[in-house]
Amino acid sequence: MRRLWIIVGFGFLVSLLATGVWTYGYRQAVGQLAERAEADLKLASDRLSAQLQRYQETAVLMAEHPALEYLDLPGGRDAARDLLLDVADKTSALDVMYADRTGRVLVSARDPSLQTLSGAPYFERALQGALGSDHGVIAPFDQRAFYYAAPDFGPDGKVRGVLVVVVDIDNTEFDWRGSSPAVLFVDEAGEVFMSNRPELLFWRRDGGDAGLQPAKGPPRAFDTDLLGSFEIWTLDWGPYLPRHALHLVQDLPVIGMSGEVVVDLAPARRLAWLQAAAVAAICLAFGALLFLATERRRTLAEANAVLESRVAERTQALSEANTQLRREVVERQDAEAALKRAQAELVQAGKLSALGQMSAGISHELNQPLMAIQQFADNGAAFLDRGKSEKAGENLGRIAQMAKRMARIIKNLRAFARNESEPMGRVDLVQVIETAVDLSAARLTHDGVALDWAPPSAPVPAWGGEVRLVQVFVNLINNAVDAMAGRKLRRISIRIEESDKLTVTIRDTGPGIEDPEKIFEPFYSTKAVGSSEGMGLGLSISYGLVQSFGGNIRGANTDSGAMFTVELDRFTEEKAA
Ligand SMILES: Nc1ncnc2c1ncn2[C@@H]1O[C@H](COP(=O)(O)OP(=O)(O)OP(=O)(O)O)[C@@H](O)[C@H]1O
Ligand SMILES: [Mg+2]
Repeated sequence: MRRLWIIVGFGFLVSLLATGVWTYGYRQAVGQLAERAEADLKLASDRLSAQLQRYQETAVLMAEHPALEYLDLPGGRDAARDLLLDVADKTSALDVMYADRTGRVLVSARDPSLQTLSGAPYFERALQGALGSDHGVIAPFDQRAFYYAAPDFGPDGKVRGVLVVVVDIDNTEFDWRGSSPAVLFVDEAGEVFMSNRPELLFWRRDGGDAGLQPAKGPPRAFDTDLLGSFEIWTLDWGPYLPRHALHLVQDLPVIGMSGEVVVDLAPARRLAWLQAAAVAAICLAFGALLFLATERRRTLAEANAVLESRVAERTQALSEANTQLRREVVERQDAEAALKRAQAELVQAGKLSALGQMSAGISHELNQPLMAIQQFADNGAAFLDRGKSEKAGENLGRIAQMAKRMARIIKNLRAFARNESEPMGRVDLVQVIETAVDLSAARLTHDGVALDWAPPSAPVPAWGGEVRLVQVFVNLINNAVDAMAGRKLRRISIRIEESDKLTVTIRDTGPGIEDPEKIFEPFYSTKAVGSSEGMGLGLSISYGLVQSFGGNIRGANTDSGAMFTVELDRFTEEKAA
């Protein structure tokens, strides 16, 4: 809407400017035209005056001619007529005649009717001794004519006759007929007497605003206007006259007429139009360029704004996504912590469950040395009674051994059952397996499982947590014992292999794993539900523990049973640091 108003306003300004330019250019052009027209009019007037002057002088000269003195003599008139005819021919005058004081024409070059001139104003003026002149349509020839009458003075100084020269206007006009611009000579009565446009002859100006109008027929379109000091005519006077014209007047008192010129304004108008059109075109082109440039800038700005808003939207969305992410991270951390807690609880539960499984064996394991201690103590007391202090000492030594073994078992159990976070670090893999075997020893003996385990003499340092690693191996040994229940051949072999990693393999002679893909899933168990065994947590807990040390645990079947492989990192000083 605003743009439309700007365009309309600009168009209005341009048209205003163009109008101004038109007016100014028109005035200038009309001024120049007027100068030229004035010169043209002066030229035409001067030429006419000069031509007429010639006839006037002829009249004056001929009036004094001696041939006119002897008209009353026989042959005098013929001689005089010959003379006048000669003069008329040479000057192309229409007629040359001589009249006496009464106005009776005595001799005429061409008109044989010898009319009377009495009463004609030019004749009367000549009778008074002055030079008479007039114009009109001469009767015998029906032609426009100019009259010049000169007095002929007698010896007494009185006017005795008048010589009249009749000038043929058609002949005078002939040279400049049709030339441009249109020039009119209007007499005092307001009638066009001479013109280079014959169609305007005898048009009359009756005063008022009607301008020149033909003597007969309907009035013709005419309008007059002023442009500064110039008179502008608007007319419809036929194909040889302009529609818009400049009208100039020059008075010619010598011949009693006014010369008028009607100049076509078309060139001036054309020039003005051209100038106005050029200015308007330049302005419009400039305006269009300006408009295009601003349009371009506007579209750019709009695109920019759209872009900026989009960027803002994106930024907003991003920051929202960011806070959302942060929230999610916090949630995940919380979940992780909860998971860790749950895992720790699971580990503990797993340990307790393993302890539960082992409790019967352990109590048997503890019971046996206790019984033996009691036996040895009794025997020792008996030996002391008998005074065999040496034997008693031996028994005491046995008792001490037994107590030491019991203490080891209890220490292991305590360490295993302890529910506290334990730092990772250097662990002797051999010692770990020894402890696991110790803890499982009761079950192994109870179920009659042979153990094939030859610990290497040197410690094998691994990276991990001792109690948790023990738990892993206890789990694996327990699973193997479970699997082999009811089998004839019951044997577990444990090996340590050292390469760039440490690998512990535990094989059994059981039926093998039913579904090796699933064994590490929590709560996956093939062991009878409701029995003391079979939570399905042992391996999943072990898996989590080994992973937490950066190690790996796998289960697979061999020809003779199942094989579990635990991979651990070697302990290095850099890792500790
Ligand atoms: N040595 C093995 N031989 C054959 N199958 C095994 C062996 N060890 C584990 N499995 C299979 O893997 C399953 C999962 O063992 P996992 O120790 O996780 O649970 P579980 O022993 O059944 O119960 P839990 O250990 O919680 O008391 C077992 O139920 C068994 O089917
Ligand atoms: Mg198990």
